[in-house]
Amino acid sequence: MITLLVAGHETTTAQITNGILHWLTQREEWERLCQHPDAIPQAVEEMMRYDPSVCAWRRYVVEDTQINGVTIPKSANLLLMLNSANRDETIFPESDTIDIDRDNVKDHLSFGYGIHYCVGAPLARLEMVILFEELTRRLPTLRLVPEQTLSYTRNISFRSPTSLHVAW
Ligand code: HEM
Repeated sequence: MITLLVAGHETTTAQITNGILHWLTQREEWERLCQHPDAIPQAVEEMMRYDPSVCAWRRYVVEDTQINGVTIPKSANLLLMLNSANRDETIFPESDTIDIDRDNVKDHLSFGYGIHYCVGAPLARLEMVILFEELTRRLPTLRLVPEQTLSYTRNISFRSPTSLHVAW
């Protein structure tokens, strides 16, 4: 239960915070979502690519492995930087720019990969889409409180501001 609560709650609320921060910083994108809520599912994927709440995840190597000419020995513990992979220019051109019209917007690795791919991904996606649909519908004047200093959680895997002040 503890695993599910952390995996299901912490990740999604943090991802929503990252999304609100970026959409309100890019005001024209926020206005677009208010006027065209059908773009919200794409927007949710792009915010997950651009600033994932789970920025790094772990793997234990069960046999000697070669990746791109690099030898990774059996028994190594790896920390995979998902946020770095999400900025791979060969997959996402101009990867430092938020662009909800990317054709391959769902190709990010923010839910992991393979047999341990996040089991809660459909629920998380649904929660985030509903939240942004309601926020844009009910609070289109939402804005960031100016001149706030953001501080980030001290954690190797989870990344989001500890608080985000908004007004409407
Ligand atoms: C935006 C929200 C979420 C993010 C960014 C996220 C991210 C991740 C990542 C990166 C993994 C590791 C995948 C891998 O090793 O390849 C994972 C696994 C997992 N997630 Fe999520 N997650 C989210 C929401 C949820 C929700 C809502 C639930 C459950 C209600 C959940 C339950 C789990 C569980 C149980 C695992 C372990 C799966 C396994 O090892 O087979 N997650 N998640």
